[in-house]
Amino acid sequence: MIITPKVRNNIFINAHPVGCRVEVERQISYARENGPIGGAKKVLVIGCSSGFGLASRIVSAFGCGADTVGVMYEREGTEARTATPGWYNTKTFESHAREDGLFAQTVNGDAFSNDVKKETIALVKEHLGYVDLIVYSLASPVRTDPADGTLYRSVLKPIGSSYQAKAVDAMSWEVTETDIEPANDEEIKATVKVMGGEDWALWIDALLAENLVAPGCKTVAYSYIGPEVTYPIYRSGTIGKAKEHLESTVDILNKKLAPCDARAVVSVNKALVTKASAVIPVVPLYIALLYRVMKELGNHEGCIEQIVRLYRDRLYGDGPMLLDEAGRIRIDDWEMSDEVQNRVSALWEQATSENLKDLGDLDGYKKDFLNLNGFDVDGVDYSQDVTDF
Ligand SMILES: NC(=O)c1ccc[n+]([C@@H]2O[C@H](COP(=O)([O-])OP(=O)(O)OC[C@H]3O[C@@H](n4cnc5c(N)ncnc54)[C@H](O)[C@@H]3O)[C@@H](O)[C@H]2O)c1
Repeated sequence: MIITPKVRNNIFINAHPVGCRVEVERQISYARENGPIGGAKKVLVIGCSSGFGLASRIVSAFGCGADTVGVMYEREGTEARTATPGWYNTKTFESHAREDGLFAQTVNGDAFSNDVKKETIALVKEHLGYVDLIVYSLASPVRTDPADGTLYRSVLKPIGSSYQAKAVDAMSWEVTETDIEPANDEEIKATVKVMGGEDWALWIDALLAENLVAPGCKTVAYSYIGPEVTYPIYRSGTIGKAKEHLESTVDILNKKLAPCDARAVVSVNKALVTKASAVIPVVPLYIALLYRVMKELGNHEGCIEQIVRLYRDRLYGDGPMLLDEAGRIRIDDWEMSDEVQNRVSALWEQATSENLKDLGDLDGYKKDFLNLNGFDVDGVDYSQDVTDF
């Protein structure tokens, strides 16, 4: 079968297995070239199959030489339908890790559920013995609370007043304006339930209960802040409330982890094209302008470059961990620098549907978007028949 990209509403409905493999191999090479990085040897990555979680697993294994257990929620391929990209990404990761003599196994199921936690912890116990790094990198629209079975759906909405957002189609770059009504209290609560810190804490409780947290262990979860232009839909919106909750969970976790001399921290990462960010109104537009500026300044990074810097200079850097006034790691520091933000703001002021193609790095955005699902990856011959998926 010849596989071509199929996208609906900025969501892919297929993936290219060869492209996914080549893209993961590129990330593995980058991690190898930029290692060795000390630190982690036994790592659990929750949300390990794409975006920042995949990069974290790659850097753990090929930068630090760590054995890894991963948790993901992906769909296997059938004769009629390709798998999700995370499925192919993980197969490639596991085969290279095992070639290097590293342990690599993945639990595919709902990380929010008690069953998946139990299965994962049994795997960690049997094969890793302990963990010295736990990466929490879930991005999910729904969560069933294991305590009472209630299903919560997160929403991407402003709080307080409605917001006129520019949404773009990542394939055609057609810009549309939509009024997004503010969230009600229930929607805010649901978004915090899904993307806040409650589940991260449940994972840490479960690992502590089985004495699997090694002395000196670190646990990191990923957050985002971004510029003022995206505040109404991001940081001051429902997802921002969830991120505030995630960030405040650090103090609770640090109390629990103190007896093991272990530590929790949030890393605020850069805005990047991932499955999760492509569906947030305004954000793709901002990213296209950001990419242009950061590429011009020579400090653009993708997930793998961000995570290498996180491990090398922050989590396992020399001296005390560099944190902001709120105790967070900031690898969005280059994105949020005055120089970058002033230039992005100037472009933002000028941007209209008509001139967007000239102002933003639409090609760069689109390439990253296609690459996520294994399309438009350099070196892949897409005219070749794919039989194994
Ligand atoms: N993309 C960005 O611009 C950006 C910037 C800063 C921070 N972040 C944060 O980084 C984290 C990861 O986001 P991403 O953009 O890498 O997302 P992503 O969509 O690429 O990856 C999400 C991962 O979570 C897994 N997952 C989702 N639901 C699951 C479930 N129920 N059970 C098990 N696994 C599940 C997926 O399989 C995948 O491995 C999020 O917390 C996000 O807010 C993202």
